Amino acid sequence: MNKVDVLLGLQWGDEGKGKIVDVLTPKYDIIGRFQGGPNAGHTLEFDGIKHVLHTIPSGIFHDGVENVVGNGVVIDPVILKKEIDALVEMGVDVNKKMLVSKKAHIILPTHRLLDAASEAAKGKEKIGSTLKGIGPTYMDKTGRNGIRVGDLFLPDFKQRYEKLVEKHKQILKFHQFDYDLSELEPAFYEGVGLIKSLTVIDSEHHINNSMLNGKTVLAEGAQGTLLDVDFGSYPFVTSSNTTAAGTCTGLGVAPNRVGEVFGIFKAYCTRVGSGPFPTELFDEDGKTLATVGHEFGATTGRPRRCGWIDLPALKYAIMINGVTQLIMMKADVLDGFDTIKVCTHYDVDGERIDYMPYDIVSKEVTPVYKELPGWKTDLTKLSSIEEIPSELNSYVEYLEQELNVPITIVSVGPDRKQTLMRGKVLA
Ligand code: GDP
Ligand code: IMO
Ligand code: MG
Repeated sequence: MNKVDVLLGLQWGDEGKGKIVDVLTPKYDIIGRFQGGPNAGHTLEFDGIKHVLHTIPSGIFHDGVENVVGNGVVIDPVILKKEIDALVEMGVDVNKKMLVSKKAHIILPTHRLLDAASEAAKGKEKIGSTLKGIGPTYMDKTGRNGIRVGDLFLPDFKQRYEKLVEKHKQILKFHQFDYDLSELEPAFYEGVGLIKSLTVIDSEHHINNSMLNGKTVLAEGAQGTLLDVDFGSYPFVTSSNTTAAGTCTGLGVAPNRVGEVFGIFKAYCTRVGSGPFPTELFDEDGKTLATVGHEFGATTGRPRRCGWIDLPALKYAIMINGVTQLIMMKADVLDGFDTIKVCTHYDVDGERIDYMPYDIVSKEVTPVYKELPGWKTDLTKLSSIEEIPSELNSYVEYLEQELNVPITIVSVGPDRKQTLMRGKVLA
């Protein structure tokens, strides 16, 4: 029986998961999303086309590959319809290539309203949510009130919907939140109609049977480890398990069926939304990273906060996920720097530590840096790893030594082709 390989973010999201899933898709038969929802924005670029996916797995542009939206995902019918319409317009036969779990939960218009009301009530303490209704939908899932894809087909679906909406209205009233639901419902029902026309399956059976029949599976994570509801910088996190364990619960894959774990990270670091970010830069270097890296959210367009790479955070993420191979993205964004800083430790309360402290949200954490020489070379034109400048090679080798996991892919631009393979990828 084959194993499921997993690709997930090691930082605060937007590491470049979409690009690399697309690059690796030809090696797999099935690509499966296991958590998150339209808070994700996964960008792919090829043949001069740039495309952003939110719910649909990033294997959708390849033929002969199944794209499974797993039970751990939350689906907004309105956004999914928009995504599908855009792909169909480009000639992608989504209906043929995509399968949706009956057990995935549905984001209602009132979940989005509740997200907005909750953020407004938090004021200065707000999470910086994407306002896609993610938190309220997962709350209804764990609160055992949610509506699942399979429920859309039930004769009493409308009553179930009304019952849950009634509950939401009470909370919105408590928040004194103004809204007009009648403006939102037509698009919701249109989206529900579209989901009912898709291939809806018991995805855990499908994935396991496919593995038994020799098929290969790549699980695609959303967000990043530092946004995990258990292990991220709580409460400034998302509402799902973004880590390797999320693959097990979000696709129905047993732990002993997980194979390679690809951990993906930027050669520096970004974060969008509120919360701690020890290596964040507020100077010219930070601005350069933001400008050269085009660091604006793929879902919300918000500017991303930028800073240097953070080894204590990466070591933590590697441990939690059991990462077997590392993928370093956006090395080209560092092309212009004379020197590159790497955070090796934090100073907290007069003590030097090399791990993320529990109270990272409330404590002052000062990063300790090591400086490495920059390469001052345009990496975007390189086509093989043999061509990389010696300074980049030293940077990669230094990180490998510190993190104790091989870096097997180095990305030097947003296009599919700007991907340098450095050794083993598939087991
Ligand atoms: P994801 O959420 O992890 O899929 O990442 P996003 O798509 O939100 O953000 C990554 C951004 O970086 C996108 O705009 C990509 O097109 C871009 N990108 C990916 N890899 C590289 C790279 O190696 N170099 C540069 N310059 N941009 C990249
Ligand atoms: P991808 O998959 C970056 C952040 C939000 C906010 C916090 C909670 O593209 O890497 P939520 O909407 O989930 O309630 O927001 O998490 N966030 C992301 N940041 N990339 C993402 O996804 C994100 N999804 C959520 O900015 O800080
Ligand atoms: Mg993104």
